[in-house]
Amino acid sequence: MVTKVKLCNEADVAPGQMLRVDAPGAPPLAVFNVAGAFFVTSNVCTHNIAMLTDGYFEGDIVECPLHGGCFNVKSGEATAFPCEKPLQTYPVVVEGDELYAEV
Ligand code: FES
Repeated sequence: MVTKVKLCNEADVAPGQMLRVDAPGAPPLAVFNVAGAFFVTSNVCTHNIAMLTDGYFEGDIVECPLHGGCFNVKSGEATAFPCEKPLQTYPVVVEGDELYAEV
């Protein structure tokens, strides 16, 4: 079943920034702003249990703070060792200036 979860307002995540969102009833989520376009993924690294929003974000790549593995936030693809399993991504819905994810 798909649930629409309120994440934040657009202004809460500037271009090049990321935001941790812990919404009731949803898995830990990360919101990324890539040059004005928003993407949402699981916030939990697939290599272990680190929170990706504690890491580094540049361009469309987020780097895990624990072992330096990387993911493309648009596709969820693992792009750097030791991460191999892709990151779950979620569709983003923009309503006015509010961001939602379908999880
Ligand atoms: S926990 Fe993220 S790279 Fe190991």
